[in-house]
Amino acid sequence: MGGNSNIKLIDDNGIRIDGRRVDELRPIKIEAGVLKRADGSAYVEFGKNKVLAAVYGPRECHPRHMQDPSKAIVQCKYNMISFSVSDRKRPGPDRRSVEISKIISEAFEYVVFTENYPRTSIDVYIEVLQANAGTRCAGLTAASVALADAGIPMRDLVPSVAVGKVNDQIVLDLQKEEDNFGQADLPLAIIPRTGEVILMQMDGHMTKPEFDKALEMGVGACKKIYALQKDALARRYAIEKVIDEAEEPAAEQTAEG
Ligand code: CDP
Repeated sequence: MGGNSNIKLIDDNGIRIDGRRVDELRPIKIEAGVLKRADGSAYVEFGKNKVLAAVYGPRECHPRHMQDPSKAIVQCKYNMISFSVSDRKRPGPDRRSVEISKIISEAFEYVVFTENYPRTSIDVYIEVLQANAGTRCAGLTAASVALADAGIPMRDLVPSVAVGKVNDQIVLDLQKEEDNFGQADLPLAIIPRTGEVILMQMDGHMTKPEFDKALEMGVGACKKIYALQKDALARRYAIEKVIDEAEEPAAEQTAEG
């Protein structure tokens, strides 16, 4: 967050440097069930962000001292691949990835019915393949679809997006330059069914009216992302149904033979 409002990121017609209006999302693509060996998976693109999420479990929790006899624990690992950013990122965890992993784990602990699976661990891996600001939101959106794809019972899917302040205006879904040179960045995630906010962070400054506007814009956008998440799962299920139907006659023949 540079906080340098002198750099012109929105023109006089209200158009941003990538052609979007202030309340427009980047193009979003969501695909469920992209990895064979994971229990659940998803691939998400938010503009130039490319993120893969894989879910394993509920499975026995290791190390065992971390087991909770009353519920499952959700362990999320957010990682940026070395080639995902313009300067090569040093491999392995750093302060930023530990923080992002922690807040995403906490968000999912709240939505997953963890009490159904005592002593287990639900492991969520988020790999950022290409980054262009908002990767925690894209990662959370992907991980939520991957959890559903793994058949893990949850209160709801969790859509996530960042809202920010750029050239004194509230803008939706910041891309890299807006994130770098903007005045504020506010990632959030909600439970659409109840309207609860389960993740909110803020970098930079906003006035109270600006914050209210940002929240309203973010919640509205989350509802659009929610529809895309559901659509991705519906497409995944439809494909599976076609495969099941195609395999059925062969199974019957074997039974008869
Ligand atoms: O990605 P997100 O906005 O959730 O987190 P951030 O810490 O606000 O990072 C914003 C952006 O800075 C990332 O999406 C990357 O594009 C970039 N970044 C980078 O180039 N190198 C890093 N080591 C970390 C972030």
